[in-house]
Amino acid sequence: MEPALPRRTHGKLAPDSLLIDAFDRYIEPLFPNAGVTLDIAGGTGRHAIFLAKKGWNVRLTDIAEAGIANARANAGSFANRIDFRVEDLTRFDGGRESYDLILVFFFLRREMFPELVKALKPGGLLIYKGYTRGQAKFGGGPTNPDYLFGENELLDSFRGLQVLHYAELIRDCGRAELVGRKVHVPAG
Ligand SMILES: C[S@@+](CC[C@H](N)C(=O)[O-])C[C@H]1O[C@@H](n2cnc3c(N)ncnc32)[C@H](O)[C@@H]1O
Repeated sequence: MEPALPRRTHGKLAPDSLLIDAFDRYIEPLFPNAGVTLDIAGGTGRHAIFLAKKGWNVRLTDIAEAGIANARANAGSFANRIDFRVEDLTRFDGGRESYDLILVFFFLRREMFPELVKALKPGGLLIYKGYTRGQAKFGGGPTNPDYLFGENELLDSFRGLQVLHYAELIRDCGRAELVGRKVHVPAG
């Protein structure tokens, strides 16, 4: 996939351009009948709502009760496709082979990486996007390096997946983005 071009979408509910592009290029072709997705630290629900509108069943998790309440209100009539969960993801357990698609946007907790792969069904997709250390010179985003990806770190963290798309964005921001598919199921 070509590095994502900025899309002219506005407002707090505008999905990230990575998800919009990945939907056309990977999600819809691989899952024409939709499926089950997990939106990790889903905030206001912008990605959960985008997918619910496309016919997906979504579990949205976030620690912020008020955020979840906002997400539910934002979802309107699509709320019945979304399972809203107030959860502290420092204790994440996504189960085994539970999801066709897992989204992680702007939330970094390295300890959960193996759990994310475990929670994907065989053939499932992980879409991950976050800030890199390169973000520092633009302002905005976290300043603590523990919450920033190093060079190639996101890529190297999910080498067990088939990498369908990887990019590190450096113009006007520092971001890393990955679309990976679980084609090899780890033994055990
Ligand atoms: C930068 S926002 C990203 C929201 C969403 N993924 C998006 O891109 O619109 C980070 C989110 O992580 C959530 N969060 C922070 N720490 C968390 C934790 N320990 N467990 C679950 N969610 C957490 C926050 O409440 C917030 O909604």
